Amino acid sequence: MATIMDGKRLADEIKAEVRKNVEGLKRFGIDVGLAIVLVGDNLASKQYFLATLKSCKKVAINAYEYRLPATASANEILNVVYSVNHDERIHGLLILFPLPPRINARRVVNTISPEKDVDGLGSISIGRLAADESTFQIFHDNLKVLNNRGFMPRLSSFLPCTPYGVIRLLEFYGVEIKGKNAVVVGKSLAVGKPLSMMLLAKEATVTVCHRETRDLSFFTRQADILCSATGVKGLIKADMVKEGAVVVDIGINILEDGSIVGDVDFESVGEKASFITPVPGGVGPVTIAMLLENTVKSAQRNEQMKSPFMMT
Ligand SMILES: NC(=O)c1ccc[n+]([C@@H]2O[C@H](COP(=O)([O-])OP(=O)(O)OC[C@H]3O[C@@H](n4cnc5c(N)ncnc54)[C@H](OP(=O)(O)O)[C@@H]3O)[C@@H](O)[C@H]2O)c1
Repeated sequence: MATIMDGKRLADEIKAEVRKNVEGLKRFGIDVGLAIVLVGDNLASKQYFLATLKSCKKVAINAYEYRLPATASANEILNVVYSVNHDERIHGLLILFPLPPRINARRVVNTISPEKDVDGLGSISIGRLAADESTFQIFHDNLKVLNNRGFMPRLSSFLPCTPYGVIRLLEFYGVEIKGKNAVVVGKSLAVGKPLSMMLLAKEATVTVCHRETRDLSFFTRQADILCSATGVKGLIKADMVKEGAVVVDIGINILEDGSIVGDVDFESVGEKASFITPVPGGVGPVTIAMLLENTVKSAQRNEQMKSPFMMT
């Protein structure tokens, strides 16, 4: 049976570090703030909204809740973003997706000031990731330097939380990425695409699969590291996985009885893999921890830029 990659364990470690940094800022009179925008009443978004609020409380980050009805206009949503962009109390902004279909979601995301784009999904953040201008954060030694000094270069952007969480989870369990065949199933802007860019930056040979991929299992069987982010329950079965592969299940599927499963057939794939993430309890908790970490980094950078001698 594979080793289970326990996301909660890593998330707890990250949160403890975040809390320390939040308290460090409090000593200088600065409260860290995160705005969370929920439009409508999508069940998965609501659950994530509540889980994020709870985590903010745990690490002493002030959460600013913005709940808008599904009938909210684009202007109303954009007004919230503009107001948060100029709110000194708030260092990060998370918008929960999906937005109602009539709203241009990219327009909304691209209105977030890049300095507060702690979910890392605006075009500037994604562009800097693609240009390798923010990937230094996924290298462990650089990360230690960042944490110790609370330093984040002015022109760097935050990495998207879910894929960044996957990389951190792989590192936490000592999985070598360099030179490995990594296969990512799913190519969304929020998960598959940025994850493939991060794995590439870590020098894996990366294949990205999607709905139009012919013979998916041909590709998945080549994977030393297989990451699935499709939202298709049971898509990845044991015969699609190489013996000893590392399997990361990012998918979240809410069943009729309210239980949650991933994309991967956990029992049978767990017999073949060397490492596997459970759902729930794998990538999910790390995603929220990364959001909190990005938020405190944003607050530290903000203060450092305004009063450079304060936080040495
Ligand atoms: N754990 C976490 O923290 C976390 C965070 C975010 C998302 N998620 C979960 O991750 C999953 C993916 O999220 P997302 O935002 O990336 O979703 P998405 O935007 O719907 O993208 C799904 C991707 O999967 C591909 N796909 C769908 N069916 C497929 C199939 N049968 N074979 C191969 N590829 C297939 C799609 O291909 P095409 O592009 O060709 O359509 C698409 O690229 C969802 O279950 C979501 O709830 C989890």
